[in-house]
Amino acid sequence: MGESRSATGMLREEHQLILRVLDVLQSLVEKGDVGEWDLEAWGDCVAFFRLFADACHHGKEEDLLFPELEARGMPRDSGPIAVMLYEHKQGRALVAQMAGALGGAESGEIEPLNRLEHAARAYLELLRAHIYKEDNHLFNMADFMVDKAGCDRLCAQYDVVCARRFEGRAKEDLENLAGNLLDRFGHP
Ligand SMILES: [Fe+2]
Repeated sequence: MGESRSATGMLREEHQLILRVLDVLQSLVEKGDVGEWDLEAWGDCVAFFRLFADACHHGKEEDLLFPELEARGMPRDSGPIAVMLYEHKQGRALVAQMAGALGGAESGEIEPLNRLEHAARAYLELLRAHIYKEDNHLFNMADFMVDKAGCDRLCAQYDVVCARRFEGRAKEDLENLAGNLLDRFGHP
């Protein structure tokens, strides 16, 4: 390696994968009759959002990037960090709703499928807008605020988080899970 990495480069790359799996989720939502939904694919999507988007990705933002920005003077209780934290919380609740509805959907009843659809549509809207805000606003501010030493330290810490296991799955396993979903349901 040797080349210097920015404070947001890895997070921006992860956004691209998350956006592609959101497109998969969209195609699952739009797929014909709810009674014929591929619940296994839904389960894989929900696992990806819970473990990759939330635990691995939002974990790095909340535990590393945001505190770095706070240390450099950005407030935590108002402004962009407060908004991002609030949206992470909303996203977490929607993923939990999807997981709960999926559990019920296996019985073949229609009501949990309706809840699943509702939560998925809300999550799609929330997370796409959230990523747009980070990519185009907060991360640009971060790239301006964090100096090279700060970037190097953050990137080393990102690597430590990425080497963890998330409920037993490595980051690479979660990327493969996404890859399989993209092969089956993604747009080329
Ligand atoms: Fe993010």
